Formats: sequence, C-alpha cells, structure tokens
Amino acid sequence: MTLKQSDYVLGHTPIEQQRLIRQARFLAPATEHFLQDAGIVSGMRVLDIGCGMGDVTLLVAQLVGPAGRVVSIDLDEASIDTASKRASAVGLDNTTFHRADISTFSDAKLFDAIVGRLVLEFLPDPIAAIRQLSRLLRPGGIMALQEPSWKVWLAYTSHLPLRMAVTTLLRDTFVAGGANTEMELPLHQGFIAAELTPPQLRLELPIGDSPEFRGLLHDLLLAVWTRAEAHGLPLNKLGDPATLASRLNDELDTHRAFASFVALVGAFARKRVD
Ligand SMILES: C[S@@+](CC[C@H](N)C(=O)[O-])C[C@H]1O[C@@H](n2cnc3c(N)ncnc32)[C@H](O)[C@@H]1O
Repeated sequence: MTLKQSDYVLGHTPIEQQRLIRQARFLAPATEHFLQDAGIVSGMRVLDIGCGMGDVTLLVAQLVGPAGRVVSIDLDEASIDTASKRASAVGLDNTTFHRADISTFSDAKLFDAIVGRLVLEFLPDPIAAIRQLSRLLRPGGIMALQEPSWKVWLAYTSHLPLRMAVTTLLRDTFVAGGANTEMELPLHQGFIAAELTPPQLRLELPIGDSPEFRGLLHDLLLAVWTRAEAHGLPLNKLGDPATLASRLNDELDTHRAFASFVALVGAFARKRVD
C-alpha cells in the first residue's frame, strides 16, 4: 500500500520545511555517530529514503565523499527541490534527488547502504517496507534506520505538566494521522523479517536548554495544529495559544529543568552474504 501525499501528518508547507531544518540541527550529532557506527564510509553508494530537506543526505554525502554517491528520494517535489539546492549551495555534487514513494522505488543498481530518519513511522506497514528495501541492497550492504520513540520522550517530560500535555496531544495527533509513534519493535521485527544480520540497536534522547532547543516542541505543535483540530483533539486544554510558547518556557524556568525531544531509536545491520 502506498501513502498519498495528503495523508502525511506533518504536511509539506514552507513553515514545515523550515521547522524540519531547525529540528535537524539538533538531531545531526546523533545521526552522524549512528551512521558512522553502522559503517557508512568513503566511496559508498547510499540511498536516503524520505530525505525531506536533505539533512541526512548532507551528512551521508560528507561521509561517502567525492568517490561516493547519495541517491535521495521523497514523496514531495518541493522538498526534493529545496534539498537539491541546499546540497549544491554547500558544494556537495555527489547527490541526486528523485521524487519517489519508498514503497515502490526501485533502481537498476544495488546500493551499498540504505539510510533513513523519521520516515518509516509514516508508512502503513514499516516491516513490509524494510523487507522491500532490503532487496535494493547488495550482499553485505548496510541498512541503517532511525525512527521515533515517543514513550521515552513522554517519560522524560512527566514532571512538567504543560509540556506533558503538549507532547501527549502531539503524540495523539500523530497517531490519529496514522503514524506509528513507537518504532522500536517494528524496526527490530522488520530487520528480522528482511533476514538481515541481527540488528544493533541504539536509543538516543535529545536533551538541551538553549532557547532554540526549547522551542522545538512548540514548533512541532504549530506544524500539526490544524490536523489536531481536524481530529477533534483538546487543544483548548493548553490554554491561550498566544501565550503558550512563553508558558512552556516559564515552566522549564520554574522547575529549573531542561527540555527533551523525540527519542531516536536506531537499528543497523547488513544484508547476509550467502
Ligand atoms: C519527518 S520528515 C524527515 C525528513 C528527513 N529524513 C529528516 O530526518 O530530516 C519525513 C519525510 O518523509 C517523507 N515521506 C513520507 N512518506 C514517504 C513515502 N512513502 N515515500 C517517500 N517519502 C516519504 C515526507 O515527505 C517527509 O519529507
């Protein structure tokens, strides 16, 4: 089953494009270490699934260097366009971008690695998608995927009532929009179903206290606000929208607490050589 663009819970507005780029700045260190641990090295030809604004593509393009290549796909033409311009702007010409659906994408040549971040959660059957994607890997090739774990984020937020209310409402909006917010097991089971080598698993919770990092939560709420309304979720319980951002800040100050963001669960493994 494929996903229609209109079904994608975050949408593809210019505001969402900018939000993704801001979010990616904070996820970059965890993703870069993860990709290095997974074995992404110079000279590889890598597929980036659901590339969005191209932030994972940019990391991979640097790891594989001029001798390597990144092929990046996304459902959204405008995202592909922006991602391609961003790669050119920083001189990374070892990248190509295509509009394609992960569920049906194929290529004449097998890949050395397939990477993706925060994308399989939006597919109706992520386990089937991992099986399908593994057919695009050469024997010995690497699958390295990072997906969300909202329950870890929620657990870290439980001492902050307003942040907890916003995070819970966000999680409920994602679930109502068809996203899978707890991807540990689908990843693990997908790797087993695809008969890859036993996956190595990672769990990383972004935490921080800079104004930009604190703001990621409110940013995400704005991105899905109309979806939350359409699903009849209780936005009114969050109080006046005009003061919500400052009340979220005040809460952190009052508790002398730091903010957290969605946890990344990562799995990587190789295609068996036999
Ligand atoms: C949350 S964004 C993540 C973007 C990027 N991987 C990152 O971490 O910054 C998810 C992206 O997946 C894309 N996407 C969702 N379903 C897809 C599908 N079936 N095929 C291709 N792209 C898809 C969306 O268009 C969106 O750009």
